Amino acid sequence: MKNPFTQFRKSIVWKSIFRRDNKDTQRNRARAISGNVFLHFHPVKIRESAIKYKFTWGMGGITFLLFIILFVTGVFLMFYYTPSADQAYWDVKDLEYQVPFGMFLRNLHRWSAHLMVITVMIHMFRVFMTGSYKPPRQFNWVIGVVLLLLTLLLSFTGYLTPWDQLGFWAITVGTNMAAAAPFIGFEGPFSEQIGITVYNDIRFALLGGSTVGQSALLRAYVWHCIGLPLIALIFMFYHFWRVRKDGGISGPNINNTGIN
Ligand code: HEM
Repeated sequence: MKNPFTQFRKSIVWKSIFRRDNKDTQRNRARAISGNVFLHFHPVKIRESAIKYKFTWGMGGITFLLFIILFVTGVFLMFYYTPSADQAYWDVKDLEYQVPFGMFLRNLHRWSAHLMVITVMIHMFRVFMTGSYKPPRQFNWVIGVVLLLLTLLLSFTGYLTPWDQLGFWAITVGTNMAAAAPFIGFEGPFSEQIGITVYNDIRFALLGGSTVGQSALLRAYVWHCIGLPLIALIFMFYHFWRVRKDGGISGPNINNTGIN
């Protein structure tokens, strides 16, 4: 009897989804990539040096992988968490001690977040050391800086969500620093002259009030779960698209020509 899977690959259903024949030719392999919605983000051909870990350290890819892990575990965490000052802390405790694999889920999210901050910095260091910020890639460096800031903001907003002492005081200190910014912070230089007070400055906007309370928790939660991941995802795809448009991942500086 013929293998049912081989039969299925010859069926009209299979052919309506995968629009190519099954012959293992070079052209077909390229079409498999360009004809797939996910794989076509990747170029069909790349320079050999671009896949050498020795050159890229794979750090951009690892950073993206961590973002995906954070996204998936974050969605699961949302099932167990209420952004309420009365309940948030106890929800996290319940998650850790009552929910099956809850402690694992929480730690996977938390450690991936710490790791992402570290890997994004190592990625930036690699790009700097290999001179990959130079033309024509200078604008992608700028996009990268935005991604670095978004990663730090994601980390910072996530810090408050367990509503524990660590997060509470971290946000208190962070937003007090913002209050000392020139023009936009009520304690900063020139703010008095332009009518900035404790009730209309940047800290008030960040906290939704003048102290760290329920509104601050809700703001941190919404930015952490919706606003920042969405903006980061858009910038990441733009970043990846630019890598391709700037001529693919840079290569080692062969023979000291400066061309890579
Ligand atoms: C969420 C953060 C980020 C992600 C997911 C990310 C992802 C990537 C990936 C997958 C690549 C392909 C090459 C590689 O893996 O090394 C890349 C290249 C690049 N990234 Fe990032 N990146 C991020 C942040 C940054 C930062 C902070 C900078 C610098 C400020 C930066 C600048 C660049 C540049 C210039 C390239 C091109 C490098 C080359 O052609 O060799 N990226 N990025």
